[in-house]
Amino acid sequence: MILEKNNYDKNALQNKIVLITGGGGGIGIEASRAFAYMGAHVIIAEVDDERGKQAQKLINEENLNGTADFFQIDITDEKQIDKLYEYIMDKYTGLDVLINNAAVVPMGAIDAVSISDWDLSYAVNLRAPVLLTKKFLPSMRDIGGIIVFVPSAAPTPYMSAYEIFKTAQVELCNTLCEEIDGTDIITYSIAPGFVKTDTAVKAVEIVAASLGITTEDFYKSLEELITDAEIAGVGYAVSVVKAKQYNGKEIMAYQVLMESGLISGDKEKPNSTQRQVDYDKLSFLFKSIADVFFDQYENWQKKKLFQKQFILSDFKKQMGLPAESFKIQIEALQGQIHNKEWSNFLDSNEMFIKWRCFYEHQIKLLQGYEKNAAQLASDTKLLNSWIETLQEIISELSQ
Ligand SMILES: NC(=O)c1ccc[n+]([C@@H]2O[C@H](COP(=O)([O-])OP(=O)(O)OC[C@H]3O[C@@H](n4cnc5c(N)ncnc54)[C@H](O)[C@@H]3O)[C@@H](O)[C@H]2O)c1
Repeated sequence: MILEKNNYDKNALQNKIVLITGGGGGIGIEASRAFAYMGAHVIIAEVDDERGKQAQKLINEENLNGTADFFQIDITDEKQIDKLYEYIMDKYTGLDVLINNAAVVPMGAIDAVSISDWDLSYAVNLRAPVLLTKKFLPSMRDIGGIIVFVPSAAPTPYMSAYEIFKTAQVELCNTLCEEIDGTDIITYSIAPGFVKTDTAVKAVEIVAASLGITTEDFYKSLEELITDAEIAGVGYAVSVVKAKQYNGKEIMAYQVLMESGLISGDKEKPNSTQRQVDYDKLSFLFKSIADVFFDQYENWQKKKLFQKQFILSDFKKQMGLPAESFKIQIEALQGQIHNKEWSNFLDSNEMFIKWRCFYEHQIKLLQGYEKNAAQLASDTKLLNSWIETLQEIISELSQ
């Protein structure tokens, strides 16, 4: 267990009451274990009786600091949510943390997914988090609490019946965050990264076939996001410990673990010493473009709500990960370069290509809304200079 190996504080969430939906599943069970390790009492709210019982048994047999409880529930049913609420209030007297982890994952073209699957996706992936939030929020107003949403990547072809409601969860989180400002309630969204759970593997088979590519090629395109269930689950639990710092943000599980020093972010990479690379030049170019991004990131944080939301979701759509996570990735690369560790950087060409495409996309957006010709010209010039810097890096890495 990552937490044990790192001697992580076993009392970090001592006696906290944590409700996790879909906690009998791939990532959910790992998250439940991590919560129990930290001393929490985890309530696994799961529709699959077998899975739920097994998860509860496994965790309790591990003799972790906390406990696991199983409540069989179909979260699409409001009456069952009422019963869950009563159960938690009677047995535990309150709820500290709600993790909206359960999901159904219908894949395929918009017209290929049946309307009953669209309805089910809405019911599990969006309506249930709304119902649970509505139910537990009032009690949290008195004692404080944490409400966590679990998004995915971004709406992409053949995944829309799933991703659209997952994206809506992020917007639900963002608006909730504004509404609970000034209370002791915290909310944020945490994406686990890509984990090869049974559900995810089945989903990839359908999407890859729809795209006309092999599953191997599909996995290759996701390489940077692939992680394992334990990292994702531990990410949920550690994010709760550090919840204050994530309030209102959209983050990723590996980012939480990196920020907590539980993983280094250095994956095994092929030896790159044979490459003829001008490291001084790369270092200079990277610093200048990283500074550009950090400035942009700061400015985005200061924007008004609607503008900020638009920019951040557009960034995520173009780059495939939240701006916050990208910032962490850039900072990690900076740290590695500082220590003369270049292997991750040398294998980041795809990231730089996406980054360049993002600025190209920004030029197109600018042409759509900037009416002042002089401003348009100067902003376009600036964006082009960033594109040039990125292109220089890309060319150097492509050698
Ligand atoms: N696996 C990935 O690569 C990945 C990527 C991005 C986001 N996510 C998100 O992470 C979370 C966990 O994913 P996973 O791969 O472990 O999924 P999973 O399918 O293994 O687990 C989901 C669990 O939710 C339960 N569930 C489904 N409908 C329910 C209902 N009506 N009531 C109660 N429980 C219900 C299922 O029985 C299952 O145990 C999901 O929210 C998913 O969207 C996963």
